[in-house]
Amino acid sequence: MGAQFDEYAKNYDQLVDSALSSTGEGKDYFATRRVEWVSSYLERLGLQPRILLDYGCGNGSNAPLLLQQLRLDSLIGVDVSEQSIAEARRRAPLKATFSTPSSFALNQQADLAYACGVFHHIAPTERTTALNYVYRALKPGGIFTFFEHNPWNPGTRYVMSNCEFDKDAITITPAEAPTLLQSAGFQVLTREFLFFFPKWLGFLRRLEPMLKKVPLGGQYVVVGRRLR
Ligand SMILES: C[S@@+](CC[C@H](N)C(=O)[O-])C[C@H]1O[C@@H](n2cnc3c(N)ncnc32)[C@H](O)[C@@H]1O
Repeated sequence: MGAQFDEYAKNYDQLVDSALSSTGEGKDYFATRRVEWVSSYLERLGLQPRILLDYGCGNGSNAPLLLQQLRLDSLIGVDVSEQSIAEARRRAPLKATFSTPSSFALNQQADLAYACGVFHHIAPTERTTALNYVYRALKPGGIFTFFEHNPWNPGTRYVMSNCEFDKDAITITPAEAPTLLQSAGFQVLTREFLFFFPKWLGFLRRLEPMLKKVPLGGQYVVVGRRLR
């Protein structure tokens, strides 16, 4: 299913920007807010990660942001789409390396794993294998931030219906996600909702932190921790 993204490796950013146009924002706005969320969450836990696994990294466009905002020593991006990996390598910043999961696996080396919008592209029967890969990559105590589109938000469903590569996606509800992570051995630390208001209601965005437990945000994040 993932190699489907080979054909989008070159124009992925434009496709996402165009699908998001109804929100008034582009891909970078959402990526920045997610990484800011991770940064402030880790700060609350008192953690400073050094090595990050970006699982389903696509064309690697999030790497500079993740490296800089999280002050990482290194980032390893993996993706099943070889064309996306080729594109990620072409634009790779210093400290970032990219591979397919079948050719490279970390073994208890990552402090942090990040996945955004990946698991709804993985067939339900293959999700546990993917989660096991992430789990194995993490050090004991390592943190996994799992971001997904929220199918309970009508705006998200609309955006997905306008996105060419989301046609075959099988969304994961906010109710299913914690159980999914637990089934792979993760201890679930939190689940929070983000992105309630489009740009034209931007003056309301300062309320979003107070709405974090309301299951209607455009995306949600589940944080899992590898115990041992
Ligand atoms: C919607 S894109 C998200 C890319 C990136 N995470 C982002 O935030 O822009 C989904 C990515 O997941 C990858 N993918 C799908 N199945 C995968 C799997 N089993 N293992 C790793 N990556 C996978 C696809 O190839 C694609 O690049």
